[in-house]
Amino acid sequence: MQTQVAIIGGGPAGTLLSHLLANAGISSIVLERQSREHVLSRIRAGVLEWGTVETLRAAGLGERLDTEGHVHDTINIAWRGQQLLSVDTFDMVGKRMMGYGQTKIQEDLYAAADGRDQQIIFEAEDVALHDIESDRPRVTFTANGDTHEISCDYIAGCDGFHGPSRQAIPAEKRQEFLKEYPFGWLGILSETPPLPILMYANSEHGFALCSMRNPMLSRYYVQCPLTDTTDDWSDDRFWSELFARIPDAQAAQIQTGPSIEKSIAPLRSFVSEPISWGRLHLAGDAAHIVPPTGAKGLNLAVSDVHYLSQALIAQYAGDPVLLEQYGATALRRVWGAVRFSWWLTSLLHRFPDQTPFDQRAQEQELEFLNASAHAQAAMTEQYVGLPL
Ligand code: APR
Ligand code: PHB
Repeated sequence: MQTQVAIIGGGPAGTLLSHLLANAGISSIVLERQSREHVLSRIRAGVLEWGTVETLRAAGLGERLDTEGHVHDTINIAWRGQQLLSVDTFDMVGKRMMGYGQTKIQEDLYAAADGRDQQIIFEAEDVALHDIESDRPRVTFTANGDTHEISCDYIAGCDGFHGPSRQAIPAEKRQEFLKEYPFGWLGILSETPPLPILMYANSEHGFALCSMRNPMLSRYYVQCPLTDTTDDWSDDRFWSELFARIPDAQAAQIQTGPSIEKSIAPLRSFVSEPISWGRLHLAGDAAHIVPPTGAKGLNLAVSDVHYLSQALIAQYAGDPVLLEQYGATALRRVWGAVRFSWWLTSLLHRFPDQTPFDQRAQEQELEFLNASAHAQAAMTEQYVGLPL
């Protein structure tokens, strides 16, 4: 098989890249290890920065987003059982956000690909990268028991944290930056009306978040020990722990119900550098992971893909500069979001090894955030997303 860009991974990064390249007349083949149904069943975060919304609209993917997405324009933080602050993001920095689940974006991307024969090969096994330092790299894989080979100009590694692309960069050339947090997030989905606002809470029992997917689908999270499993968390225990962590006024508004999904995710920050090597360019979770606090993961995948698509389009038009600079350009924005999601995680969680000094410092930071419009502006500027 021959194509211009071989894309490994059919999550949001890989399929959006294929879409943006197709818009510019550049061919690609996407290789996805899982089935389409499996990818669409994964529950992920759902808050889009305005830059992400505009990127999706400009790509022709805005129609359902604009009818089913809901605008978010406040950041709400509770502390010690009281609402500490509610910042209007539009008043503060002139930008809003959009609530629209990653699963819906993935559905929109697959539907768009079907509509114009973009090639996505599902259940591709044993994907391997070859000759990435040459000018004719290759990707091999098996499907239905047969081995195939794709010859291409460039490889985009969009295969998430566990995929093979990052490992194709020689280990001695890679530097990995890792921070693991000593807790996880237990998340549930419940077919009940959500709170009208998204609310983060720091309480003596730990972090909690009230979020939403649509008018009859709520998403809630509580911080839990990494040693817990979902078997430790009956629905009753979940609701009483959530209510212990949020203000009474919000708890009184929440309608409880059976969870339709329940899972525990560990929290980590991770960046691997460089993200380009020869003809291989990484994008999204293949190159970096952020903790979910602040919902930056998908937004970063979209910004990487925005830069990479622009760079490849320029390259095919005869200008190599953007592609040479792709790593530096993308990583500058990545580190901005990595630092912000580390800061928001540190501000809102209870750390098991937190000393009384750390606790006071955290309380002081919340007090300062509450008292200072400048501190709120700095938080808001990063929360709504740094410009592309
Ligand atoms: N071969 C082919 N595909 C693979 C392989 C492999 N060996 N390994 C992984 N993949 C696929 C996964 O099945 C997945 O569908 O790569 C895809 C990567 O998708 P994501 O993990 O969703 O990562 P990305 O597209 O970068 O999107 C980032 O998704 O993970 C969330 O929090 C993250 O919201 C962020 C966004
Ligand atoms: C979510 O809705 O899943 C969500 C929202 C905001 C976050 C993280 C996750 O900061």
